[in-house]
Amino acid sequence: MESIIIKPAVTVSGEISVPGDKSISHRSIMLGAIANGVTAVRGFLRGEDNISTMQAFRSMGVDIEDDGEVIKINGNGLYGLKEPSDVLDCGNSGTTIRLITGLLSGQSFFSVLTGDKYLRKRPMKRVVEPLSLMGADISGRNGATLAPLAINGGKLKGITYQSPVSSAQIKSSIMLAGLYAEGETNVIEPSLSRDHSERMFRFFGASLDVNNDGVTVRGGVELSAREVIVPGDISSATFFIVAALITPGSELLIRNVGVNPSRTGAIDILLEMGGDIKLLDEREVSGEPVADILVRYSSLKGISISGDVVPRAIDEFPVLCIAAARGEGITTIRDARELRVKETDRIKAISENLRKLGITVTETEDGMDITGSERLLGGVVDSSGDHRIAMSMSIAALVAASEITITDIDCVATSFPTFFKLMGKTVSR
Ligand code: S3P
Repeated sequence: MESIIIKPAVTVSGEISVPGDKSISHRSIMLGAIANGVTAVRGFLRGEDNISTMQAFRSMGVDIEDDGEVIKINGNGLYGLKEPSDVLDCGNSGTTIRLITGLLSGQSFFSVLTGDKYLRKRPMKRVVEPLSLMGADISGRNGATLAPLAINGGKLKGITYQSPVSSAQIKSSIMLAGLYAEGETNVIEPSLSRDHSERMFRFFGASLDVNNDGVTVRGGVELSAREVIVPGDISSATFFIVAALITPGSELLIRNVGVNPSRTGAIDILLEMGGDIKLLDEREVSGEPVADILVRYSSLKGISISGDVVPRAIDEFPVLCIAAARGEGITTIRDARELRVKETDRIKAISENLRKLGITVTETEDGMDITGSERLLGGVVDSSGDHRIAMSMSIAALVAASEITITDIDCVATSFPTFFKLMGKTVSR
């Protein structure tokens, strides 16, 4: 397990682009694999999580080529996947296991899905339960609530499912099963989670409606291969947005970032905290909104965060907490219980780490209160094996009084393999 020592920065400046969007990259492989024709994907994120998805589909007989620039997926059609001869290893990726469980429920073969020690602790009941209502035959550890999961694929029927949580993984898993189900499959969520599946289903020619009653997918409709251009991942960009906002004298331009409104909660939150962030040259690429983002150092203030913005910023809370730790006054976060079931319990991990740096944090069941301070101490913090905790603490180190050691940073490769390199490019000391 590797560690890294990060020294305080003088400024974070220049012009960068961040790697491709993780959620869109996963979905491009999945839909490309079951479409008819060759799907070409540019800007694909070659992080470990997306490689897990790619390998899973290769194991199901899909020919996927990568020339280092473009990924070419020779789609097998809706009913062309083959029974894998071994267990499918989803690594650390919740998106891979939850979405593929939906897809595999409707196949005519048997499959087993597993993952690393972190993924095997994460809740799977949230997808197993609705899929079972559709007729899926899934078994697994602890009453089919934990991976490994074994799926006896078979006939499914459409359902209407009111999800108790706003989760794109739950929604997308059911939508993928819905492609194979008899009739219509409808998913309703408390507030909108990222809608990349809805957009990409439409882009590939699926039959679906999206309205106030959620998303409805009609089964048995073949998909057509497309050319997908993946924008930069706003979740990756947010580490650098916060870095520039909290480091005096910084000005940073991040080019080509996906700004889908279901993902821009962190921008809204940082604007409310007083951040100087501008979206430039807004455009649409492969059915997704894209922009360049210009950020300047700003003095931030504490705010209250709760409600519908939470799912729109769900992956950004670790680094938003770093912004809060530097803001003037108290930031309160509520309605964010989902953070407890991410790659690690992020409420606990961030609270413990911030306290080590001298910040006052009170944990609640569904959030935390963070009292901002001008002084962040140096020290040693641990990632808990969670990529976003590792990267967030690296950003905190840029403004700490002395260097910070972050232990167990290998996990950064799951979503942002070039993070430290890019940090080296923008930070002056
Ligand atoms: C994702 C959905 C979110 C997010 C994850 C990616 C997706 O998870 O945290 O990083 O691609 O669908 P939940 O659906 O569990 O909120």
